Amino acid sequence: MTYRACIFDLDGVITDTAHYHFLAWKALADGLGIPFDEDDNHHLKGVGRMESLDFILARSDRTFDATTRDRLATEKNDHYKTLIKGISPADLLPGIIEAFDWLDARGIRIGLASASKNAPEVIAGLGIADRFHYVADAGAIPRGKPAPDIFLDVANAFGIAPEDAIGVEDAAAGVTAIKAAGMRAVGIGDAAILREADLVLPDTSRLAANGLAVLAAQA
Ligand code: G6P
Ligand code: MG
Repeated sequence: MTYRACIFDLDGVITDTAHYHFLAWKALADGLGIPFDEDDNHHLKGVGRMESLDFILARSDRTFDATTRDRLATEKNDHYKTLIKGISPADLLPGIIEAFDWLDARGIRIGLASASKNAPEVIAGLGIADRFHYVADAGAIPRGKPAPDIFLDVANAFGIAPEDAIGVEDAAAGVTAIKAAGMRAVGIGDAAILREADLVLPDTSRLAANGLAVLAAQA
């Protein structure tokens, strides 16, 4: 027996947009005189737009009303959109197409569980929109990661039990969400940060052989 679905995070797993999110938040924070660096950014991986903004604004001694917060979130998103405009299949991280092919060859369904409302544009630019059997709508999911909701939404769309799915994530909040959903997790990145994952790989280059196949053998 193996798992029946593999549910991917997008930013930092399929493509390196995590860096573009950082650049856009950094520019916003700099403009407001709020300190923000790559280490702080680890806390924002997988975290939704408004929650990320609130994390940054909480480091200021000023208060920001709802209208200002909306304007700042729009400013960040407009900047992010200019950064991802030229995204193309060349921006796919190594091993991702091989992972999709490995899953397709075994009839394992492929889902996307990204908190990003820009996910449809990003996967279209990457040329992989048609590789997913289901893409969760981030705007329709009540609670963001680390809540399990978005991963459960995908399992539900596939009509399978969460135990029959695995998730792939680069963010600590994302791995927590996968485990809270009752799925097994492949972490991509630093094992010290992704402690809850069932298996951690330093990057996606050998995702099929060293990640997907290993969990399938354990199932
Ligand atoms: C992903 C990224 C986060 C980002 C969130 C919302 O989870 O890892 O860094 O804040 O999506 O993205 P959005 O494109 O909707 O602002
Ligand atoms: Mg991510």
